[in-house]
Amino acid sequence: MSKKPLILGIESSCDETAASLITENEQGNPIVLSNVISSQIDVHKEFGGVVPELAARAHIEKIDWIVKKAIKDSGKKIEEIDAVASTAGPGLIVCLSVGLSFGKAFAASLNKPFLAINHLEGHALSPKIVTKLNYPYLLLLISGGHSQYLSVNELGKYKRLGTTIDDALGEAFDKTAKLLGIEFPGGPQIEKFAEKGDPDKYVLPKPILNKGGCNLSFAGLKTAVLKISKNIKKEQDKFDLAASFQKTIEVILYKKTKIAFDEFEKEVNPKEKIFVVAGGVAANKSIKSKLIDLCKRENYQSLFPPIELCGDNAAMIALVGLEKYKLKQFDNLDYPAKPRWQLDEDAAFLKGAGVKL
Ligand code: KG4
Ligand code: ZN
Repeated sequence: MSKKPLILGIESSCDETAASLITENEQGNPIVLSNVISSQIDVHKEFGGVVPELAARAHIEKIDWIVKKAIKDSGKKIEEIDAVASTAGPGLIVCLSVGLSFGKAFAASLNKPFLAINHLEGHALSPKIVTKLNYPYLLLLISGGHSQYLSVNELGKYKRLGTTIDDALGEAFDKTAKLLGIEFPGGPQIEKFAEKGDPDKYVLPKPILNKGGCNLSFAGLKTAVLKISKNIKKEQDKFDLAASFQKTIEVILYKKTKIAFDEFEKEVNPKEKIFVVAGGVAANKSIKSKLIDLCKRENYQSLFPPIELCGDNAAMIALVGLEKYKLKQFDNLDYPAKPRWQLDEDAAFLKGAGVKL
């Protein structure tokens, strides 16, 4: 029996400090030996959003302890680690620098290879932690910073089919929550409010629904929610607005995903039709059930990571590290932190006023 690689993954791109040890079984399926996450919600709550300097400070304070705990929980010894994988981008540079420098130093001290990981690639591959998943597949990545449809053709090969031209979906959830007086991070709370509300009470705009292929836009929704929220009187109105907002998102994603299916099929002519949804917003049960309905209608297999792997974590970083390690795609210790790092580096920048769709 050959020794299977043991990879330490480190994540610190935003407000979660995380470390994980991963290996694989004889069949080549990943095994998560430990997955430790420390969230900084309490640090940022009073400011209503992530404060980069405070986040970086919290990473510096926690990272040593988190990595030690991940190693201890895995039951392995430090010397057994074969490589260290750290998130190198995209994210907040002051935050990325903490996990990246720690990972490089750790790898250097063990004299083992270092792997610089794209955080979005972690989300993109996250369902592979628990399910067998063949390339190519269509990915909808919906997180706090990104909203994209991508054709995942193989490790490191991505073709963007659509993207948001303004806010990310998680951002739209968080901004709506703020307008309703919900504490940061509001996304999960909006889901809870929506369960108690009438989704047909308010009619909200669906920007670029009938144009722009599978590109997305959510900024107009925020303006509409702002106007309505000024006239809110009762708690029930808040529930109704949350429900109407979530329903609007579902209608947008249903229609845009259908378009993305066509574009994906044109792009790669896939043998299997597989649709993966990843990132923090993939945890939303109502969105998930609507997209599963669509997949059933369109004969797509749908895959969502388990809820604990939807948000930021280091198991997904270690997993990409494992895949890169097997291909010997090692990185040098001068690898930079990259605040911007698209999965499809050839895709055009599509944000802001004047964007042509
Ligand atoms: O992937 P993630 O943990 O971090 C980024 O890489 O951005 O995503 C965080 C985002 C936040 O905007 C959060 O409000 C949103 O995901 N989110 C949700 C839910 N859970 C997390 N949005 C809607 N419904 C949820 N249940
Ligand atoms: Zn993320």
